[in-house]
Amino acid sequence: MSRPLAGRVVLVAGAGHGLGAAVAPELARLGAHPVLLGRTAGALEEVDDRVRAAGGRATLLALDLLDGEAVDRLGPSLYARFGRLDGLLFTAARLERLTPVAHGDPDWFARLLAVNTVAAARLIRTLDPLLRRSDAGRAVFATCAVARAPRAYWGHVAATKAALEALVLAYAAEVRRTPLRVNLVDPGPLATRYRRDAYPGEPPEAAPPPTRAVPAVVALLLPSCTRHGARVSVEEEAADGDRDRRSRGLDAAAR
Ligand SMILES: NC(=O)c1ccc[n+]([C@@H]2O[C@H](COP(=O)([O-])OP(=O)(O)OC[C@H]3O[C@@H](n4cnc5c(N)ncnc54)[C@H](OP(=O)(O)O)[C@@H]3O)[C@@H](O)[C@H]2O)c1
Repeated sequence: MSRPLAGRVVLVAGAGHGLGAAVAPELARLGAHPVLLGRTAGALEEVDDRVRAAGGRATLLALDLLDGEAVDRLGPSLYARFGRLDGLLFTAARLERLTPVAHGDPDWFARLLAVNTVAAARLIRTLDPLLRRSDAGRAVFATCAVARAPRAYWGHVAATKAALEALVLAYAAEVRRTPLRVNLVDPGPLATRYRRDAYPGEPPEAAPPPTRAVPAVVALLLPSCTRHGARVSVEEEAADGDRDRRSRGLDAAAR
C-alpha cells in the first residue's frame, strides 16, 4: 500500500466530530501521525480507535479553541514533541443557529468569530514556525460557500467565514516563496452537526456523509500537492470530474 504521508505529523483542529473525524483515520492509513485536537476527550478517544484500526497512532489534545492562551502554547509544545509540523487541517467551526442580522446576539457572534476565525489566526501564529520547519508543510482551512455568497439569515456565519478566507489567502501570499502550501476547502453539504444546526428538520440521509470530502482534503495535505492560495470546492471539482468523464465517454464513442 502506498503511504505518501509516512512519518508526517498532521494536526487536525476539529477532530472530534464531522469532517475532521472522518479525515483523521485516512491520514493514519496513509502513514501520518495525526494530532487530534478537539473540545471533547471522549469524542477524540473514539476517533483514536478509528486511527488505530487504520494502523496508526495519534496524539490527543483536548483543548477548547476559545482558550486563546492554550492555543498559543501549542506551537512550543508541538515543537518540543515533534520539532516540526507537516500539516495543519482546520475544520473546527460553530454554526449553532441562523438568525437575521438585526437579531444577532453580540456575545454569541463573538463566540462564533472566536472559533471560526480568531482560532485559525492564532493557530497560524503559533504553528507557522513549525510548518516552515517541514520540507513540505501543508495548511488547509475548511470554509463554506456562504463566505462568498451571503444569504438571508446566514450573515453572522458568512462574516466569520469571509474573514477566515481573507486571512488564509493573505497568509498564502505571505509564504508563497517557501515550500509551505496553504489552501481553503469548501467541503459542500455534509451530514454533520454544522448541517443539522442550519437545517434542523432535514433527514440525515439528505446530505452525503463527511467521508465524501475526505479525498479532496487529504489531497491538499500531501507533500506532492502543488496548489497554493486556492479555494477548492468539493462539489465543483466533482462536477468537473463528471463533465470530464462524460466528454471522454463521448470522445470514445465517437472513435
Ligand atoms: N457540514 C456541512 O454541510 C458543511 C458545509 C460547508 C462547509 N462546512 C465546513 O466544514 C468544516 C467542518 O464542519 P463539520 O461539518 O465537520 O462540522 P461539525 O461536525 O460541527 O464539526 C465541527 C468540529 O469543530 C469542533 N469545535 C467546535 N468548537 C470548538 C472549540 N471551541 N474548540 C475546539 N473544537 C471545536 C467540534 O468539536 P466538538 O464536537 O467537541 O464541539 C467539531 O469536532 C467547517 O469549517 C464548516 O464551516 C461544512
